[in-house]
Amino acid sequence: MDIGPFRIERYYARYEFTTRYMLSSSDCESRTVADLLELEPDAHARLLGTWCGYTESAGAPELRQAIAALYERIHPDEVIVTSCAEEGIFLLYHALLEAGDHAIVETPCYESALELARSTDARVSQWHRSFEDGWAHDLEALDGLVRRESRVLYVNQPHNPTGTLMDRPTFERVAELARANRMVLFSDEVYRELEHDPADRLPAACDLDERAVSLGSISKSYGLPGLRLGWLATRDASLRAAIMRLKDYTTICSSAPSEVLTALALRNRDVLLERNAGIVRRNLPLLEAFFDRHAETFEWIRPAAGPIGFPRVTGVDDVDRFCQRVAAAGVLLLPGSVYDEPAHVRVGFGRASLPEALAVLESTLAAPAAV
Ligand SMILES: Cc1ncc(COP(=O)(O)O)c(C=O)c1O
Repeated sequence: MDIGPFRIERYYARYEFTTRYMLSSSDCESRTVADLLELEPDAHARLLGTWCGYTESAGAPELRQAIAALYERIHPDEVIVTSCAEEGIFLLYHALLEAGDHAIVETPCYESALELARSTDARVSQWHRSFEDGWAHDLEALDGLVRRESRVLYVNQPHNPTGTLMDRPTFERVAELARANRMVLFSDEVYRELEHDPADRLPAACDLDERAVSLGSISKSYGLPGLRLGWLATRDASLRAAIMRLKDYTTICSSAPSEVLTALALRNRDVLLERNAGIVRRNLPLLEAFFDRHAETFEWIRPAAGPIGFPRVTGVDDVDRFCQRVAAAGVLLLPGSVYDEPAHVRVGFGRASLPEALAVLESTLAAPAAV
């Protein structure tokens, strides 16, 4: 398998655990196991009693039930639990694609969505969105990318890195285009339920279309990435069977304690979402005010969902070097070059420490060496 380095992860590997303030993280503020165990009266005893044997390959029934409850038309048997969404992306592409096939991927994107499609030896086209067009979804351009060999269309709503969200008619037309061309709509929904206005929430693709696949995760909106738990949901039985055959060669099953904690978290997700949405609601105006004060340096399209945005940086010669300098001062931004968008940075506003991080960034910008 020929696969390039995952640039986002390599960047984080270098800085994440040595930089004081995370101002680009794509997840929300996390919690301790003790916090989670407070969510239900007998949770502590149940965790201690968890059997550390293998679990069911498709996921513990209790967890699949909690996941199915997120959707309108999904039965627990139509859920495959994975050891994080990343595994789900790997499994779906490798179950579906081979040399001679074609995939379409919405970009810029979480890099594995593109690289793992390429790693199957399929041809991959990018449905590219641009800042200059307001990150618009050009359906005509999408239609022009479709070929006879097209098997899968990856989209990500709410979107990493822009924080934008398609409107519902556009999403339905994308689903219709996939259906009409017999492509599987692979819908990465790991930021779902963190829309800034809940009225903007899109239907899950797996509810909308019988062959579509929804990708979910406990990492992002719910803020529990250390559990390493994700899932795929689809009503397509033959696709599920192909994924399960492959999963025997990746993880077989997920971590038993993580399954228990994820089921607990999902049953009580309103509590998790309320706190995380509250952090986003508090942070977003602070960030906006910061960008207004530094309009000569940052220009952005305000995110509509999730905890990240992707401003363009002007007045800085080299955004990579700028990010390194800011990291040295204690604040981690993610340079857009890891998305092949070198004029941008990814900012994250799902963490409690954002006010302190902005203060450090502000003084770094004021220092003559910063720009
Ligand atoms: C759009 C998108 N999909 C999938 C993932 C993978 O999430 P997980 O932590 O569950 O592997 C990420 C993580 O950043 C992401 O941003």
